[in-house]
Amino acid sequence: MTTALAMRQVSFTFPGWPPVVQGADLDVQAGEFRCLVGRSGCGKTTLLKLAAGLLQPDAGSIVRDSREIGFVFQSPTLLEWLRVEDNVLLPVSLKRRVTPADAAQAHALLEQLGLGAHARRYPRQLSGGQQSRVAVARALILRPSLLLLDEPFAALDAITREELQHDLLELCRAQGTTVVFVTHDIAEAVYLGDRIGVVDAGRVVDEIAVPLPKPRATGVRSSPAFTQACAQVRAAMHLDTVDA
Ligand SMILES: Nc1ncnc2c1ncn2[C@@H]1O[C@H](COP(=O)(O)OP(=O)(O)O)[C@@H](O)[C@H]1O
Ligand SMILES: [Mg+2]
Repeated sequence: MTTALAMRQVSFTFPGWPPVVQGADLDVQAGEFRCLVGRSGCGKTTLLKLAAGLLQPDAGSIVRDSREIGFVFQSPTLLEWLRVEDNVLLPVSLKRRVTPADAAQAHALLEQLGLGAHARRYPRQLSGGQQSRVAVARALILRPSLLLLDEPFAALDAITREELQHDLLELCRAQGTTVVFVTHDIAEAVYLGDRIGVVDAGRVVDEIAVPLPKPRATGVRSSPAFTQACAQVRAAMHLDTVDA
């Protein structure tokens, strides 16, 4: 197996503040869908930015087997003056002239994400879920081998979120994309992940393999194995003793 991302004893501190990431280790295999879960403020976003190279570690090493990295932020961050298709093509146009093949790829991605008919619209003419889909398409336009997502669906309603989770899984499976997906939603992590890393105090403190077959049908969410995996993650996060 090839390692797509290896973080070793990585530390990071914002100057003048206590350390945010401390001795973090993370190994992600090529083609794996890895989720990271943890409480708000535990350092998930910082870990992901370090993985992306958007922040530089103070100590430790980060090795990526990837020329092209896609990043999806928590809010869609679309450019409101660009049409949907041009938002998707933005990473290309920042690098070079957009070719007809690029445009065709953008339309194919939009089609796969159920937005084929919306390519000429502007972001304000889309729902929140549709805007998130555009952000996913934009992150995939350069065919990154590594895709990093930071709670991309957190602001969406439960039904829209489940639809997007399903479509993201299918797209990444089809393209063989390696994924690191940060969330604080345990069911989301279990539905998507091959493995789940539990983050606490700026480190990955536990790792749980999800014993559910792929591709994952939507119905898997109501299976006993799914419930059991959620309980296992809750226990690893020490949420098992919290009263309902
Ligand atoms: N620019 C910054 N300057 C100082 N502290 C920060 C900055 N960004 C984040 N932090 C702190 O780092 C910790 C981890 O933040 P973050 O990685 O965003 O956590 P998470 O994504 O898990 O909610 C938090 O305590 C947060 O307040
Ligand atoms: Mg965050």
